[in-house]
Amino acid sequence: MTTHVEETLVLVKPDGVARNLTGEILRRIEAKGYQLVDIKLVEPDRELLAQHYEEHQGKPFYEPLVEFMESGPIVALRIAGNRVIEGFRSLAGTTDPTTAAPGTIRGDLARDWGLAVQQNLVHGSDSPESAERELALWFD
Ligand code: TYD
Ligand code: MG
Repeated sequence: MTTHVEETLVLVKPDGVARNLTGEILRRIEAKGYQLVDIKLVEPDRELLAQHYEEHQGKPFYEPLVEFMESGPIVALRIAGNRVIEGFRSLAGTTDPTTAAPGTIRGDLARDWGLAVQQNLVHGSDSPESAERELALWFD
């Protein structure tokens, strides 16, 4: 096994903060062995959200997504570990909470509320390029 220490951006989205799940989510990250490097409570403006979700601009769920992300405070985490980018995506589970595997954050704790956007508790960067770009947006 080769060592490949990375950092990634995790966001506890407004539903996670409002439902008091920040501690449970951080517990799972730490229990997996990832290192917490930085943490802060953020109320992002539209500009930050537009840059964060630029790949989704123009899609039908984009506007509801941005409105949801503006609906309350978010906890931003910088975490580190071997292959943490892929590893956190695995801990989080797939995007749709209904079919996310049991044992994952989304599979265990999120559900489909029948809304225009998936309230799926967490964001995790999806590649080394995304992690670098997103960490710079939220932390630098
Ligand atoms: P995406 O980057 O595809 O998912 P992930 O968060 O798993 O990387 O989409 C970003 C967010 O947009 C997703 O977490 C929830 C929302 N979304 C919807 O509401 N409906 C959809 O069909 C998709 C693809 C995403
Ligand atoms: Mg994504």
